[in-house]
Amino acid sequence: MAKPIKILVTGGLGYIGSHTVVELQQAGYEVVIIDDCSNASEAVLEGIAAITGKPPHFERFDLREKKKVIDFFNRHPDIKGTIHFAASKAVGESVEKPLLYYENNLGSLVYLLQQLTGRGRRSFIFSSSCTVYGQADALPITEGAPVKPAESPYGNTKQIGEEIIGDTCRVHPELQAISLRYFNPIGAHPSNMIGELPMGIPQNLVPFITQTAAGLRKELSVFGDDYPTPDGTCIRDYIYVVDLARAHVVALQRLLEEGNQENYEVFNIGTGTGTSVLEVIHSFERVSGKALNYQIVGRRPGDVTQAYADTSKANKTLGWKATTALDQAIKTAWDWEQKIRAL
Ligand code: WQD
Repeated sequence: MAKPIKILVTGGLGYIGSHTVVELQQAGYEVVIIDDCSNASEAVLEGIAAITGKPPHFERFDLREKKKVIDFFNRHPDIKGTIHFAASKAVGESVEKPLLYYENNLGSLVYLLQQLTGRGRRSFIFSSSCTVYGQADALPITEGAPVKPAESPYGNTKQIGEEIIGDTCRVHPELQAISLRYFNPIGAHPSNMIGELPMGIPQNLVPFITQTAAGLRKELSVFGDDYPTPDGTCIRDYIYVVDLARAHVVALQRLLEEGNQENYEVFNIGTGTGTSVLEVIHSFERVSGKALNYQIVGRRPGDVTQAYADTSKANKTLGWKATTALDQAIKTAWDWEQKIRAL
């Protein structure tokens, strides 16, 4: 039996990272996780093992510690691919603490890439975001849409990160890289063993909805209903986290295959469908049978009116497509919330 291909997942205890570890293990890869647990709990390892029966090898350290990154790769020369999730990702916090975001998100990326070049063929997948598009001029958004000036240091670290990777791939043909620009990930694993564990007050819509329904929050504030959209609320592309995780596996498979594709590609990963805030609320009320307590308030600074993906490039080139309907994804989020609150 051939030795399984070894893949590093940084931030593998996080929300998207943990779901991707599960899909990688179930696709037959051996997974090693690096996580500093600054925004994730080691208990997630048990959830992963409960699903796959294989506790991944885990090392806890901060990727800003360059010596530890070098030591790690010297101890694991057989890692063929790296999926890089580890980063600070709170938009608001990044405005308050820009240097923390530039050091953590970009410093770690440089240290990783230094270990992935000059060592023979290596694959690298970067967790990027549709935030790089800002308010796109045309919808749905294609990968050719212009990158707009970032609205936050967080968004800027994604833009600069992609440029760092592109510049590196240009002079290092041995590095095969893909950036996946996520739209809005939602939901939890169908096993209910892993899911989103936002620390503190959730910034994102779906965890705020489920925490409100669970009684942790008094009510959901809907940030504006005076946008130029059919119901006045903002439109986003909410993609089920397991569909997103699976996109990483197919992207990795593309990179591991000897191929003559250019060594750096970018893909939009969404459903291709736009959904408004009120439609998400109605979806939740349908699947939970509960009326959600919410009220319309003023707009949130920095919000774009609409963002949803043109997924034809990922569909055609990766052979990947999101298959989970909104209600099903929202139901997994609600099941997970009830479980972690032992409701
Ligand atoms: C969605 C919609 C809000 C909360 C962010 C990051 C992006 C990515 C996904 C990391 C908006 C509305 C929200 C609430 C609300 N993260 N909303 N009340 O802003 O589209 O994207 O998360 O990569 O990079 O920018 O997601 O869930 O915060 O907001 O009305 O309490 O829900 O106004 O229209 P967003 P979100």
